[in-house]
Amino acid sequence: MANPTDSKSAKITRPKFTGGLAFVLAAAGSAVGLGNIWRFPYLAAQYGGGIFLLTYIILVITLGLTFSLTENALGRMTGKSAIGAFESFGKKYKWIGLFIFLIPVIIFPYYSLIGGWVTKYFVTYATGGSSIAAQEDFFSSFISSPLEPMFWGLLFILFCIFVVWKGVESGIERANKVMMPALFVLLIIVTIYALTLPGAMEGVKYYFVPDFSKFSFEMVLAAMGQMFYSLSLAMAILITYGSYLPKSEDLESSVLKVNLMDTCVAFLAGLMIIPAVFAVLGPENLNSGPGLMFVTLPGVFASTPLPGLMGAFFFLLVIFAAATSGISLFESIVSICTDTFGWTRNKACLIMGIIAIVMMAASSGGYGLLDFVTILGFQILDFFDFISNSVMMPIAAIITCLFVGFVVGTKAIDKEISQTSKFVTKPFYNVMLKFIAPVLVALILISNIVSALAG
Ligand code: PFF
Repeated sequence: MANPTDSKSAKITRPKFTGGLAFVLAAAGSAVGLGNIWRFPYLAAQYGGGIFLLTYIILVITLGLTFSLTENALGRMTGKSAIGAFESFGKKYKWIGLFIFLIPVIIFPYYSLIGGWVTKYFVTYATGGSSIAAQEDFFSSFISSPLEPMFWGLLFILFCIFVVWKGVESGIERANKVMMPALFVLLIIVTIYALTLPGAMEGVKYYFVPDFSKFSFEMVLAAMGQMFYSLSLAMAILITYGSYLPKSEDLESSVLKVNLMDTCVAFLAGLMIIPAVFAVLGPENLNSGPGLMFVTLPGVFASTPLPGLMGAFFFLLVIFAAATSGISLFESIVSICTDTFGWTRNKACLIMGIIAIVMMAASSGGYGLLDFVTILGFQILDFFDFISNSVMMPIAAIITCLFVGFVVGTKAIDKEISQTSKFVTKPFYNVMLKFIAPVLVALILISNIVSALAG
């Protein structure tokens, strides 16, 4: 197999991060998002606390690391985003990249809409509306109103487009260097505050001490699905960001740092939310699923001493988390368009931005004016989420494993990683990638489809 980096396709003009730290912050910015702060705590709460946490950590160290290394190495070795990266190994593989390209195209619009909801919550808290946000029907009446959610979604989307339009170094790098540290500071403040609420320690116990009687196969699959989502795996993003990583940087240690940061934020988000709900509203309220952040948590803030300030801090940190992920989704889309169709960055931002805005408006309308529209029984936003995360993502992950395992060859990946890293995880990497990962991911796919059909 010819070395794809020899081809003239690895352009000298490709933008690069200025170094390892910039890469780590941007890749962690992509990983740390709504998945960590909104999704992880409600799944952990629902699947037994400590046992979910333990399973999740084991999965990140094994499966998660294997995937992150593979995608980043593929990007750096080819110097290309998803479509070009696959095509570098032969024209006949271009379709894989095209398929993966569609995933961020579908996710970005509805992710931005949720980012818009979070922005609305932040503004509500920051303008003294903490008791309004805590009213029981605040969330449902807001998301089903015809125009307001679209306005906030548009604001969020335009911000992401602006940062991507500014470019890799002066847009993405700068935005992450500000938002990521700010996010950590706010997260620590709100977590300390939550842990000092009377009665929080019972919740801490629930979260930390694994109860093995709650172990189930369903829980493992939920943890695995969450891991893919949280680490932004199999969605074309890490290939793109890997292609911006300078050849001199230690790939393995950068990836380890990104995964560590992502897991720390998910862990802290659970520590911030679960004990607080336990203490203020009681454990029976932990099962509120996706409503945990938008409905249950405002109720928690309302009965604490500083509802407005802590609510504003909390939703501001969620905005930072969602924005850095939204930026990575849109960068991945734009990068593929410039690499593959030869568009300029401006043209790609304009065309793909308009498409995203239309899809965001449709997702929002699905809860309001268009609520009579269902696709396979799902509302529009839920359909986009289901098709991208539950169906396309596992398919992309299986194809990536088999492609890298049997076409590119693990030797080539080994060579790419070993150039600058010790590759300490190598002993289990090959077996994990070629055999264990595809089987595990196939199980996620089957279970997702079965539960959708049953539901
Ligand atoms: N990893 C992000 C999160 O946890 O919210 C979400 C995400 C970003 C998913 C980018 C997919 C993606 F391509």
